[in-house]
Amino acid sequence: MALRTVMTKRTFAGCLGFRQQLRGVQTFSLPDLPYDYGALEPAISGEIMQIHHQKHHQTYITNYNKALEQLHDAITKSDSLTVAKLQSAIKFNGGGHINHSVFWKNLAPIREGGGEPPKGSLGSVIDTNFGSLEALIQKMNAEGAALQGSGWVWLALDKELKRLAIETTSNQDPLVTKGPNLVPLLGIDVWEHAYYLQYKNVRPDYLKNIWKVMNWKYAAEVYEKECS
Ligand SMILES: [Fe+2]
Repeated sequence: MALRTVMTKRTFAGCLGFRQQLRGVQTFSLPDLPYDYGALEPAISGEIMQIHHQKHHQTYITNYNKALEQLHDAITKSDSLTVAKLQSAIKFNGGGHINHSVFWKNLAPIREGGGEPPKGSLGSVIDTNFGSLEALIQKMNAEGAALQGSGWVWLALDKELKRLAIETTSNQDPLVTKGPNLVPLLGIDVWEHAYYLQYKNVRPDYLKNIWKVMNWKYAAEVYEKECS
């Protein structure tokens, strides 16, 4: 039976999209974008945004839900081998869902403040940690360009040390795999599916232009919440 046909009710509207009850298993659905697909042009084309959201993110969610259902069945049957075998799919597809849910909120149309430098305490701490906002951007772009294969480059907050750091993760590993206290303020998707239709193989141009639609207001809100 298809997952969608046996969903019974929505139980929770969380930050990662609606979670739904499926035979005792919490499953996930695609969160709406907070802007139109074409609203980030010319930095990121509407075609890329639509495919990235409707196809790529949806596929992670579909496969995540499938793995969660299989995990539930395996636990019910005390099938330890299957539980162990499912960990890779859960990490990859769950990570894909977590990462993209943050990524959409990290971006904003220019008319809604996209690209406006951070204000308040986040702006000050960036200057203290990195010298300037421009220096931070250059460092993140260099790390993103150098990342081999597919992955993410993050501006992270260590919520225990109250310190900023730049991190990279491979594939769909979420930032928390680099440290349990790390919270993503900004994450940039450097998978080819995020830029290839517009920028072809020139990842540095994508990295240069994405800052024109970066939602620093969101990053500042997360920073304030985690540091308060
Ligand atoms: Fe992606």
